[in-house]
Amino acid sequence: MPDGRMEPPDADAALETDRRLVRFLTCGSVDDGKSTLIGRLLYEAGAVMGDQLETLKAESGRFGTTGGDLDFSLLLDGLEDERQQHITIDVAYRYFSTPRRNFIIADTPGHEQYTRNMAIGASTADAAVLLVDARKGILPQTRRHTLICSLFGVRHVVLAVNKLDLRGFDQEVFEQLAAEFRQFAVDMKFSSITAIPLSARFGDNVTASSPRTAWYAGPSLLECLEGIEPEATEELHFRFPVQWVNRPTQEFRGFAGTVTAGTVAVGDIVQVMGSARASRIKEISTFDGAREWAAANDAVTLVLHDEIDVSRGDLLVTPDAPTEFADQFAAHLVWMREDSLVPGRAYWLKLGTRTVSATITALKHRVDIETGAHVAARALELNEIGFCNIATSVPIAFDAFERNRDTGAFILIDRLTNDTAAAGTISFALRRASNIHWHESTVTPTQRADLKGHRPAILWFTGLSGAGKSTVANLLEQKLLAIGCHTMLLDGDNVRHGLNRDLGFTDADRVENIRRVGEVARLMGDAGLIAICAFISPFRADRQMAREIAAPHEFIEVFVDTPIDECIRRDPKGLYAKAQGGIIPNFTGIDSAYEPPRQPEVRLNTLECDPERLADQLLAELRRRGVLA
Ligand code: ADX
Repeated sequence: MPDGRMEPPDADAALETDRRLVRFLTCGSVDDGKSTLIGRLLYEAGAVMGDQLETLKAESGRFGTTGGDLDFSLLLDGLEDERQQHITIDVAYRYFSTPRRNFIIADTPGHEQYTRNMAIGASTADAAVLLVDARKGILPQTRRHTLICSLFGVRHVVLAVNKLDLRGFDQEVFEQLAAEFRQFAVDMKFSSITAIPLSARFGDNVTASSPRTAWYAGPSLLECLEGIEPEATEELHFRFPVQWVNRPTQEFRGFAGTVTAGTVAVGDIVQVMGSARASRIKEISTFDGAREWAAANDAVTLVLHDEIDVSRGDLLVTPDAPTEFADQFAAHLVWMREDSLVPGRAYWLKLGTRTVSATITALKHRVDIETGAHVAARALELNEIGFCNIATSVPIAFDAFERNRDTGAFILIDRLTNDTAAAGTISFALRRASNIHWHESTVTPTQRADLKGHRPAILWFTGLSGAGKSTVANLLEQKLLAIGCHTMLLDGDNVRHGLNRDLGFTDADRVENIRRVGEVARLMGDAGLIAICAFISPFRADRQMAREIAAPHEFIEVFVDTPIDECIRRDPKGLYAKAQGGIIPNFTGIDSAYEPPRQPEVRLNTLECDPERLADQLLAELRRRGVLA
């Protein structure tokens, strides 16, 4: 994943050898013997320190369930405490090496609700070890894990058929399970599927072939993992997301970052993705001095021959690289929040070092993670996986995830809480993106506004149904008209008869309601008008979206602050009575949430002031802001 917090700590530096690095993920639950398997693998590969071994011996005697033998699951529980504190998502990384390979194990909790953790682990893994209990067979969980691995780019799958000792090392049992799994995974584009008969507890086929499975001619688990060729990122096109611009002196200007793919050498031409700006590499400097070339995973500072405009977040590429540059693409998402994904809402999208605003424009389908089937969906819930179209506020550079896992993966961040909302992988750019262009008109919004004798503004009224939004908005419009202002009133009830006739009151429909009105209000502002918008607009994120659609400084949020009890008492349209009687579902304040603004530009207290005075309060505010002369 592109978010630094989720990256495993940089083990490459710790394991300084030329051995290739294989990252693998372990999936399965504790019951399947996962801890025991990893513990034994670490032990037999010599990755357990002397003092850890002493503790293990002591604890196996005291707490172990293995009758005095070493209980390897205890070893793992001990290591569990050493989890990196800064990893917000629950993935534990462990390292070990053999003479042939360096390994990073990403271990994720096997529990069903941790789909997201698995996705994070899978997104950087070369291989996955899927554990099944020979007595239980392929479970829905196994299928789910397999599917996530395939969606998040894992190329090699190892089916570890564990606890075969409890089935008498029966070849038939093993073959049947292996066949069932292959059948399930056949369409998932894995480069290899290896099934291995195992007993993690007794060590059969973990690091050496077991005489108890003489019928099995394949590799042990460790041999299998050692045989995996990690993705050759250096063979890909050169990609260098600029992390920061290093300018210690006037003469020196370097671009620091980590090469995510490919190689680059002094003299090569590089280009800022999405622009015509290009230059030749003059110098490649590292912590240990200058170098002639750099390859994937190298942290370097690049110095160019020419002074071209490069900033943090830009992607340097080789000019012939087929990277996409677009503002719309299709992607898979794993949803990670308790509240559901709603198409239309704005999020931050972070890809590499670049962060831009983005919305999910369409949810194409949800992936049923048991069967892989595509299911129609209007929203995604926690841990669900969906396929959707995403639009970014400005074009960004990326690759399809299949081509490059670094420049093809992103996360979505909630704008209000800064939590990670989703992890995603890009499938393809939407061609539409490059075929529609924005036309700058010759007459500017400023020129239009200059005709009016006042500045444009968008007064956005929010509050519960019956709070008094329309009443105050109407009075204000009359007063503005009386002093010669050019206004337009957009009111929820009215707009829902025309432009938004197709929308109801689900969360998704309300988001779309506000998005459309936000766009219309923006156009009215550009026309030089004072647009007065009266909508419940119950969700903060959506009001924020309307604010961002508006031209800078034009948006004025007016909170019509009437407590729910008072609205119920007034009930001007008799709707609260109906909602309480269960006749109107999803009614704001009754069974659908209202999130009051935290810092509105204006708060109107309808309990203490009458509508006349509130309208005057707004006029005064418009004068104070220079909207009115
Ligand atoms: S919003 O939530 O999407 O902003 P909007 O302001 O357009 O709502 O429309 C609200 C009006 O629709 C209310 O004043 C009320 O008259 C009517 N209405 C009908 N059903 C509902 C409902 N379930 N929740 C809120 N308002 C409703």
